[in-house]
Amino acid sequence: MRAKRTEPPLMSEVLENLLDGYQVRPDPSPDACEAANLRMGLFTTMRDRGCPTKLAREVSRLKDGHRCESTHALESAMGWRALALGEAHHEVLVLAGQRGRGKSYAAAQVLAQMRPGSGCPRWANARHIGTWLFQRGHDVAVQRHLERISTAKLLVIDDLGWEHMDRGGYAQGAFVGIIDDRIQAELRTILTTNMGEAKFRERYGDALHDRVRGYGLWVDVEPGCSLR
Ligand SMILES: Nc1ncnc2c1ncn2[C@@H]1O[C@H](COP(=O)(O)OP(=O)(O)OP(=O)(O)O)[C@@H](O)[C@H]1O
Ligand SMILES: [Mg+2]
Repeated sequence: MRAKRTEPPLMSEVLENLLDGYQVRPDPSPDACEAANLRMGLFTTMRDRGCPTKLAREVSRLKDGHRCESTHALESAMGWRALALGEAHHEVLVLAGQRGRGKSYAAAQVLAQMRPGSGCPRWANARHIGTWLFQRGHDVAVQRHLERISTAKLLVIDDLGWEHMDRGGYAQGAFVGIIDDRIQAELRTILTTNMGEAKFRERYGDALHDRVRGYGLWVDVEPGCSLR
């Protein structure tokens, strides 16, 4: 006996069956696309400026679930930024304190707020600068790095104190020279360090300590807990 013919299925039912088992994602809205593009653009810019990938990802909010929190380091850095971009005598910001207190993160946030084209802002780790200083004269690329950090409108020197110091004090003197020349040229510099003020003075000398105090802001970041 022949099976009874059923009615042809409706087109909507066919589509429903076809899509069954697939997760259909709604198209992102134009606003969401634009925000994602802006974040990606900021990430690329931060990397180009020399910021480490991990920090660049956090600051441009490309790290899942990352939220920017208000910290002593961040508030101090933003307060300095407001002064430093407007007036002379605020050439340097030192964020000093224990590990994981948000010093580098705060410096990266200030760097992120510098518009493209505003004097090629840069980020450099003190260890890398120390190495470049020993290699200068032998390598064109190193020479270019040093020129960039000498002329950047804003320079972040991260982890000051971790650089290798030679017995003759060559790198130490060159470091002092870079920072001092930048102060004289009214270029802005942020230093992050785990050193206290007394150690800084002992390592880089009274003259630089005096300049930093006279033309900048020294912030002892509150100890609190590590944010790592
Ligand atoms: N304001 C903030 N909002 C959200 N997360 C933060 C903030 N500050 C820091 N963090 C988190 O804490 C981590 C450590 O911060 P950061 O690297 O700035 O510490 P640090 O003080 O520079 O430490 P170190 O002395 O070891 O270099 C960051 O990678 C980030 O994940
Ligand atoms: Mg740091």
